[in-house]
Amino acid sequence: MAKSSKGVFFCKECGYESNGWLGQCPSCRSWNTFVEAPPATDGKTGVKGGAATVGASGLLPAGAGEAVLLEKAPKTERERVSTGIEELDRVLGGGLVKGSIVLVSGDPGIGKSTLMLMLSGKISGKKKVLYVSGEESCEQIKMRADRLGVGGEGLYVFAETNIARVYEQVGAVAPDVMIVDSIQTMCDDNVQGTAGSVSQVREITASLMKLSKSRGITTLVVGHVTKDGSIAGPKILEHMVDTVLYFEGERQLVYRIMRCVKNRFGSTNEIGVFEMTGKGLNEVPNPSATFLEGRPVNAPGSAVACVLEGTRPMLVEVQALISGANPGNPRRMCTGVDYNRLSMILAVLEKRLGLNIVNCDAYVNVVGGIKIDEPAADLAIVGAIVSSVGNVPVPAECAFFGEIGLTGEVRAVTHADKRLSEIIRLGFKRCYMPLANKAAVADIEKAELRKEFPAEIRYIGNLKELRY
Ligand SMILES: Nc1ncnc2c1ncn2[C@@H]1O[C@H](COP(=O)(O)OP(=O)(O)OP(=O)(O)O)[C@@H](O)[C@H]1O
Ligand SMILES: [Mg+2]
Repeated sequence: MAKSSKGVFFCKECGYESNGWLGQCPSCRSWNTFVEAPPATDGKTGVKGGAATVGASGLLPAGAGEAVLLEKAPKTERERVSTGIEELDRVLGGGLVKGSIVLVSGDPGIGKSTLMLMLSGKISGKKKVLYVSGEESCEQIKMRADRLGVGGEGLYVFAETNIARVYEQVGAVAPDVMIVDSIQTMCDDNVQGTAGSVSQVREITASLMKLSKSRGITTLVVGHVTKDGSIAGPKILEHMVDTVLYFEGERQLVYRIMRCVKNRFGSTNEIGVFEMTGKGLNEVPNPSATFLEGRPVNAPGSAVACVLEGTRPMLVEVQALISGANPGNPRRMCTGVDYNRLSMILAVLEKRLGLNIVNCDAYVNVVGGIKIDEPAADLAIVGAIVSSVGNVPVPAECAFFGEIGLTGEVRAVTHADKRLSEIIRLGFKRCYMPLANKAAVADIEKAELRKEFPAEIRYIGNLKELRY
């Protein structure tokens, strides 16, 4: 048998490719995850060649086989379709691009199908939408649609897992927007493996991509994530599609955050915030006010941080509890902040402010299930810890932002002006911020001084200057 007709082997977890079977994946180190995938087929879907070659073509029309001078390359503005959901439009950079393929992934039960059905309902007023579900029957979809209040003239639903039958319906309905819920339930008879296997997922995504590019159908594909948080299926899936969205949040809590991790037609900076209710997902246009709702007033150990999610400033409450000395074996627990960052801040506070806390148990929590991954929240964490240690509440109308260095210095952060504006907009009376950012907010300070009841801005150069 010629070598080229042999199947290659893939790691089911991360998509690592190998010519032979391996017991342990050299990339993700998982054991027994290698499965054989056949070479790409030339079956009914018409997908030829490896998925990567199709993926690299982007939005170029099929058959554009000649090199052209960049100056003479055709220039077309991509038509965008608004999803009717403002938070989602913002994440996508202004709506869905016609003919693009978007992967929406998230943990089980987080609300992917709910969001897709709501979006289908909104778009179906102006465009034809085909909602393909491999997970639910038409009755189930109808029940959910009734509960969400979704309906629209141009909304077609189809419960099917066979991709060839789906393509038949695409021919019959000729939709502008298609939703495939989910890629792991779809099956192509011409490809080896069961639904959800690496080879099936790869080939079906490639064929969906060809279809959407050639017919100008905007396709949204729902994908499951594995227990380690990555999208189930080959990594190449993320390279093939135009946009990758992650829908995340704690299932016990009501807030959901839509994050864009890849976008060929816009920035990946924006996030969308939603709230899960019995009637579906509600948009949260003003997350700061929502996250701060019901905040304890005059309680020691609570401080407000201003963090940037994409280009959007958001105020969140950080809580700290420092309790009893536990020499040699202190407990450190944090939710929503980085464990190493917390350890560093505790060490800095011990060394530079002389707080005797290295042997104390420390618990830090960001309220609302929000995850902070930028150092600008350091100053608020310090504020909450110092308040808990001294059992003195931080005044309720205070907010903080600034990065802490190892010598106890408060370092400048990006977009100080946006953060300060958000703090003032929400009616905070005092803001602690880095001295190094003073010049960046000079205009805002000047405007504030002219007001009758201005917000007080306290510039901090070093932690030693922090006073409530
Ligand atoms: N009848 C209901 N009343 C209120 N909330 C509901 C109801 N049914 C579902 N939900 C909410 O919707 C969530 C499930 O949403 P959805 O089915 O859209 O998730 P999903 O991400 O598509 O899940 P899966 O990965 O299983 O496909 C549930 O976790 C629950 O919070
Ligand atoms: Mg679902």
